[in-house]
Amino acid sequence: MERQPLRTEEPRTRHPGPEKSPEGGFIKEMEEDHGRIKKLIKEFEPVVSSRVIEDMVLFRKKLKELEDVVVEHLKMEDELFYQSLKEKAIEKKQDGFLPVIDLYKESMFVVSRKVLSFFSRYREEEDISVDPEGFFSSFKDIRYEILKRISKEERGLFYIYGTCFLD
Ligand SMILES: [Fe+2]
Repeated sequence: MERQPLRTEEPRTRHPGPEKSPEGGFIKEMEEDHGRIKKLIKEFEPVVSSRVIEDMVLFRKKLKELEDVVVEHLKMEDELFYQSLKEKAIEKKQDGFLPVIDLYKESMFVVSRKVLSFFSRYREEEDISVDPEGFFSSFKDIRYEILKRISKEERGLFYIYGTCFLD
């Protein structure tokens, strides 16, 4: 058996939100969040491939760390980013972007709901150990959804943000 590769990190400070960030700084912070989320997800790869959880306590702790980072990030985007983006689009007379932003917003909310439902379903160690196959299958689903959302945001929304927010 190889050693459990998962480690936990110190909790970080709260996201300041767009209103407290300098222009352009907001995107940089979201990209940093994305990098951190992708790195955390990658750390699960050996366990997801082997489907062997050697240390359930450590594994649950690591899952909680991923939950905290992902949920905080989704909340920040869902509650602040899209509204801020729409206001800026109107302010900069780029109203043509509004339907696209709404479409993005709706599809991203669906992702958020799936992710939140996953984390609430696996709140306790027993929730995983009672049905590990179900857990790993669900984990792979939300991993796919999160990575797809990140990719869509970076390819689409961040471009719009750059066009609307930055002169
Ligand atoms: Fe994001």
